[in-house]
Amino acid sequence: MASSATTTGTIVRIHRLLRSNWITSAGAALMTLAVLGFVTVFAMHAMGGAWAGPYIGIITGLALPALFVLGMVMVPAGLFLYRKRLNERLEALADKPVSLARAVVVLTAINFAAIGTLGYTGAHYMSSVQFCGTACHAAMDPEYVAFQRSPHARVDCVACHVAPGTKGYIEAKLNGTKQLYGFLTDNYRRPIPTPVEHLVPAKDTCERCHWPEKYLGTKLKVKSHYREDESVSGFTNVLLMRTGGTRADGQTVGIHWHVNPDVTIEYVASDEKRTRIPWIRVVRKDGSEMVFTSPGASHDAPAGERRKMDCNDCHNRSAHAFDLPDAALDNALAAGLIPRDLPFVKKYAMEALTTDWTRDNAKEGIRQHLQQAYAKSGQLDETTRQKLEKAIEEVAAIWLRNVWPERKLGWNEYPDLATHVGCFRCHDGKHVTSSGHALFGPDLTASSNPSRDASCDRCHVVLSENEEDPAVLESLGLRR
Ligand code: HEC
Ligand code: HEC
Ligand code: HEC
Ligand code: HEC
Ligand code: HEC
Repeated sequence: MASSATTTGTIVRIHRLLRSNWITSAGAALMTLAVLGFVTVFAMHAMGGAWAGPYIGIITGLALPALFVLGMVMVPAGLFLYRKRLNERLEALADKPVSLARAVVVLTAINFAAIGTLGYTGAHYMSSVQFCGTACHAAMDPEYVAFQRSPHARVDCVACHVAPGTKGYIEAKLNGTKQLYGFLTDNYRRPIPTPVEHLVPAKDTCERCHWPEKYLGTKLKVKSHYREDESVSGFTNVLLMRTGGTRADGQTVGIHWHVNPDVTIEYVASDEKRTRIPWIRVVRKDGSEMVFTSPGASHDAPAGERRKMDCNDCHNRSAHAFDLPDAALDNALAAGLIPRDLPFVKKYAMEALTTDWTRDNAKEGIRQHLQQAYAKSGQLDETTRQKLEKAIEEVAAIWLRNVWPERKLGWNEYPDLATHVGCFRCHDGKHVTSSGHALFGPDLTASSNPSRDASCDRCHVVLSENEEDPAVLESLGLRR
């Protein structure tokens, strides 16, 4: 009986304290609101409701914790600012200071628990693919869309963008806050600049799942292409990629030689996008060193960031690959998503893809462009109409996953460096050491010249180039 009276008394006193001034009252109200809001969302979630929407996530992950913390700051701030009034009230309550102190301790503990829960949910949410990919919707839509089609679609954004450990986490949150601010004030660069300025080294991201020494050997690649002629004629390149790695005998061979732990490759680029590389240094385990420079460049390292080469200097598009219109159409034609028996379909589709649309009118514009192209050839029968419909869907889908005019992201903004474009920044045959040893590049003499083949073979054996119906596929049992 006595103890329940004390409890009631304490609650009355706290109530009076909280109502002693408007700031404290408002703070208390905010805290209550935040907790109620959180309980509501939690209950909805427990009953199988939509936890997943980006807005629910922003509310529980950011808005509620922010409200709660704001309230928690306002309560003591009000008490402090209106301390004179507080003192008067405290005097009126002077009889039971002990239970008041106890109540404060209990309330503080509850607050910490609440902050812990809200903060944990917030932190967890802010590391989710959802938050990264959809909260800053307009800004990162292109990366999110490309990510969902990538081999890493099930890997969290933070596994590649945030270094492990507390330091990486704090850096990421500081950087993220800056980005969020830029996004909210509509002050961010379009397109988002790449290479990413402070990209976490592959050692702390990629190499937690991939083992750089792994021997990947040689891989067969069959690449189908189509012309813009009436019959949409096809041709095929067949390559044996010498991906390599570290063999059982300890020798590192092939393309993955660059990430062999026994060598360090550093380079300096003369432009922000790292398309021009005038200076390269290779240091081997035995301490020997080689410096390659492009014509006219000094042997001494030029000013600028000296970058240590890692996976991302080639696999820069491992999670966000954007297509070129030509390559995207080739893939769709090869997969039958665009019917090849529509005459000139690649030509018309190329025209449609490279016209300036907005994201709102692209689909309709592409539809009209293709329909008009075929309307010229007279009445369309029902089967042709169906095929055309299929082609329209696919061409529009290709445009929509590659072009974001409001982000200034057009075709080829983010080229894939694991191709000639990337390799030939160094392997152009023009980078030489001071003693005249050249870093190998493609020998561009006539294709009948054996020295040309040898130069190509260091990276891949070209089994067939631009052939209509490569005999090699026949002998491998892979005829298309
Ligand atoms: C498998 C690793 C990986 C994952 C997973 C990943 N990224 Fe990336 N991301 C990269 C790399 C590598 C780059 C570009 C590196 C460079 O060129 O500097 C990049 C670049 C970006 C860029 C800069 C613009 C651009 O296209 O270069 C944004 C924005 C981005 N990522 C957002 C995301 C979001 C959002 C997610 C999750 C939905 C995500 N990333 C998941 C590896 C990854
Ligand atoms: C969380 C683990 C994880 C991380 C981190 C990760 N990867 Fe992967 N990666 C995988 C898995 C699993 C596959 C195989 C996917 C498959 O074939 O289904 C893969 C596939 C690949 C492939 C082959 C793609 C293809 O088309 O077959 C490349 C290249 C690659 N990763 C590079 C990278 C790079 C570069 C990074 C760092 C930016 C990275 N990965 C980070 C797990 C990871
Ligand atoms: C010098 C450029 C370069 C570097 C550096 C590089 N790779 Fe690769 N990697 C390639 C190329 C080229 C291929 C072959 C791609 C193909 O088959 O089209 C490849 C293939 C792969 C594959 C797919 C193998 C298969 O058989 O499907 C994986 C996985 C991979 N690399 C991961 C990595 C990881 C992880 C790193 C960093 C430790 C790395 N690569 C560093 C160029 C590079
Ligand atoms: C930053 C410059 C740079 C880039 C980019 C680069 N490489 Fe290299 N690569 C080198 C250097 C330096 C060597 C060592 C040459 C030597 O020792 O003579 C090398 C060696 C090689 C080797 C020989 C490995 C061996 O077995 O000895 C192959 C194969 C190779 N590169 C393929 C590629 C491919 C494929 C790409 C593009 C996906 C690429 N490189 C991109 C700098 C680069
Ligand atoms: C420094 C390494 C390197 C050298 C040298 C090199 N290539 Fe390549 N090549 C690559 C890479 C990497 C790819 C990309 C493979 C892929 O698409 O996954 C490629 C792709 C190709 C393709 C397929 C293109 C497609 O999309 O169908 C052809 C054809 C080709 N190379 C021909 C040659 C010829 C011919 C030479 C010699 C004159 C040569 N390459 C020299 C690295 C090299």
